[in-house]
Amino acid sequence: MDLLVLGGNGLLGSNVVQTATGREWEVATTYHSEEPTFDFPTRELDIRDRSRFEQLLDEYDPEIVVNCAAMTDVDGCQRKPDLAQAVNARAPKKLARACEARGIDFCHISTDYVFDGTETGLYDESATPAPIQMYGTSKLAGDIAVRDAHSAPLIVRPSFIYGVHKPDDSLTGFPAWVRSQLRSSEQVPLFRDQHITPSRAGQVGATLLQLVTEGYSGTFNIACRSCTTPYEFGMALRERLGLESVPVEPASLSAVERPAARPQHTCLDVRKVEGCLDTVQPTLDEDLDRIEPVLEE
Ligand SMILES: NC(=O)c1ccc[n+]([C@@H]2O[C@H](COP(=O)([O-])OP(=O)(O)OC[C@H]3O[C@@H](n4cnc5c(N)ncnc54)[C@H](OP(=O)(O)O)[C@@H]3O)[C@@H](O)[C@H]2O)c1
Repeated sequence: MDLLVLGGNGLLGSNVVQTATGREWEVATTYHSEEPTFDFPTRELDIRDRSRFEQLLDEYDPEIVVNCAAMTDVDGCQRKPDLAQAVNARAPKKLARACEARGIDFCHISTDYVFDGTETGLYDESATPAPIQMYGTSKLAGDIAVRDAHSAPLIVRPSFIYGVHKPDDSLTGFPAWVRSQLRSSEQVPLFRDQHITPSRAGQVGATLLQLVTEGYSGTFNIACRSCTTPYEFGMALRERLGLESVPVEPASLSAVERPAARPQHTCLDVRKVEGCLDTVQPTLDEDLDRIEPVLEE
């Protein structure tokens, strides 16, 4: 077995699985509450269950485990901090430790929410994390624990993931929400004071697998090259959907009250991954070209 992907029914996990199977890697995957519809067997796994994970390592004997499973509901993490710490921090540590003990490579997914968002430039891989909500706190604790438990983990840091869920090809994340709001002519409030480098799940999956293939470890930002706002992102989607007549409301992140605070500026510097792989990460426009057929459905 080449690759075991944890969280294979998530947006990123499903893209990692799809890309790897497309390259004829031997892949197995696990899911949490809903079994994905890949045409190969998948296994149920709660990543907090170390003995079940070890059984799966015995069963599949993978060369590398990619952990795409996490508690990603930012407000949910704020409401349930113990669960967030268990899933996002303590579980990855156990997974990484079990892999280290068996000589299996380990790839883990971080987040731009480890940053406080006060930087107005780009965050590179050496920037100091300072999370401002429980999701980022638990994810940062997971990154640190994985580095502690495994001798050479690959830690991939995307930002604002969106894309096409596999294998069912359903549009997921921000573009799906914007499309649905625009098509029903509902109000579309879009933040102008939040800055992000949106990461298309298919692009992150492909780049991650390239890093794996080339044997990289360490932390890598993977995102598009465009530092943009949800407002600009939404306007680009509106134009592609031909719905320019539907009004869009410029909104402010700081005016919305939610259980968890959001960082205002988390654009990622992608020069490290570009330099190592000798490629250029796409612009937002280039990434949107890739989802255009599904966007128009
Ligand atoms: N979404 C973003 O904007 C973003 C940005 C930066 C980084 N990231 C990171 O990227 C990674 C992938 O995120 P994503 O966007 O693909 O999120 P996602 O679609 O929510 O996928 C996460 C998966 O984890 C599973 N999961 C949750 N709790 C679990 C548990 N206890 N045991 C096993 N699996 C569990 C979920 O399954 P159930 O739904 O069945 O519980 C889900 O399939 C995560 O590490 C996330 O922190 C996300």
